[in-house]
Amino acid sequence: MKTFSTFAALAAAASAFAAPSPREELVAKAASSVTPITVKGNAFFQGSNRFYIRGVDYQPGGSSDLADPIADQGSCSRDIAEFKKLGINTIRIYTVDNTANHDACMNALAAAGIYLVLDVNSPKYSLNRATPHASYNTVYLQNIFATIDAFANYPNTLAFFSGNEVINDDSTTSAAPYVKAVTRDMRQYIGSRGYRKIPVGYSAADVDSNRYEMAEYMNCGSDDERSDFFAFNDYSWCDPSSFTISGWDQKVKTFTNYGVPIFLSEYGCNTNTRKFEEVAALYNTEMTSVYSGGLVYEYSETGNNYGLVTINSPTSVTEGPDFLALQSAFKATAPPTGDGGYNSTGGASGCPAQSSTWNVTGDALPAIPSGAAQLMKSGAGKGPGLTGAGSQNAGGISTGTATAGSGSVTAVSTSSSTATKNAGAATLAPLDKSPIAVAFLVAGFTFVGATLL
Ligand SMILES: *[C@@H]1O[C@H](CO)[C@@H](O)[C@H](O)[C@H]1NC(C)=O
Ligand SMILES: *[C@@H]1O[C@H](CO)[C@@H](O)[C@H](O)[C@H]1NC(C)=O
Repeated sequence: MKTFSTFAALAAAASAFAAPSPREELVAKAASSVTPITVKGNAFFQGSNRFYIRGVDYQPGGSSDLADPIADQGSCSRDIAEFKKLGINTIRIYTVDNTANHDACMNALAAAGIYLVLDVNSPKYSLNRATPHASYNTVYLQNIFATIDAFANYPNTLAFFSGNEVINDDSTTSAAPYVKAVTRDMRQYIGSRGYRKIPVGYSAADVDSNRYEMAEYMNCGSDDERSDFFAFNDYSWCDPSSFTISGWDQKVKTFTNYGVPIFLSEYGCNTNTRKFEEVAALYNTEMTSVYSGGLVYEYSETGNNYGLVTINSPTSVTEGPDFLALQSAFKATAPPTGDGGYNSTGGASGCPAQSSTWNVTGDALPAIPSGAAQLMKSGAGKGPGLTGAGSQNAGGISTGTATAGSGSVTAVSTSSSTATKNAGAATLAPLDKSPIAVAFLVAGFTFVGATLL
């Protein structure tokens, strides 16, 4: 993949002395056309209006052909035209290259009114659910902080995912303190570097036995340790279904008192013909008091029959029947007027008790590795992109337990306006839902949830 790192470094150096570069003008133009999303109580807001995520998961090529979909202006233009036809306002990307320049695509997305929810991990730079302590290290955190640097200045960066499906059953719940520590560290980095308060949260797997514990856990403890939102992947509504048959009614009840926004980070069961009848429920007041929308899995066909379109060439796609079904469902479903019955109070959950499905004792988190703590002051610097050597056994691990409040932002960098806009990035590829991929998942080969052999 081509990168612009040399050009970008020169442009950044030159910009201190010269008139705004074309790149800076692009960013400035996007800034004026998009209102950053904020969190209030258990909901997202765009200015004073309630904001519902109405989107798709976007990773052409999937995990087998890993590429940054917004580093190339040609392909992102092709797809933004389709996003507009669908009528969406958000995309989720699982992996980006944190050394690439994203100005053109992020600006084009902004011009189309589309926000980005970005996973910061990549296959080689991620927590390993089997060895979370070793994989929570300075090299890993440097990479994800560099990804934050690469996206924090775009007004249409809606949120960051700190992890995707790291915990995928009961026995892997012991990795939860590390997921929570990464979330804490990202929030502290954003604050320490003086960026806008971009929401950070975790995208949980569709695991019934510990979904609520996971959500409680991510929102318990001191404020520095709590997430800004919670998301989970949900394939329980398989058309023909209903609010009650799918069990979504229970998922509203369960989360009624949850104090931060929740949304579905993947949905769209494809067991039967997809009509996307769940769209009408998701944006209806029966759900909007608790949920803030969701993301359909997934934009392009990558071999698992979840794709809305098939990509033919760098300039052309074919819209499949699922594309047309989703387009009609969105057309027929306006979000509720007013505030959708959100809960403006918000607040912390209690920490879940240890049980047979939740193998975490107490609420202590690992301390940030000392090398990564330094980056709060110095900035992350250049990221490794998608070709780095990987972090999972790179050393520079955490020693000791954090004290509550240790992740608070104590000093704000004064150099944030010149913070690297073009440093590294990378994230997890989407979970492949095909039976073959599920077999790989069992075998531990898939990198969803950050496991890499
Ligand atoms: C619970 O987690 C600990 C590590 O924190 C591990 O040693 C233990 O085997 C786990 N227990 C179960 C039942 O998975
Ligand atoms: C609103 O959220 C708070 C904090 O989570 C909770 O205690 C309260 O019961 C919620 N109110 C309603 C009406 O659900």
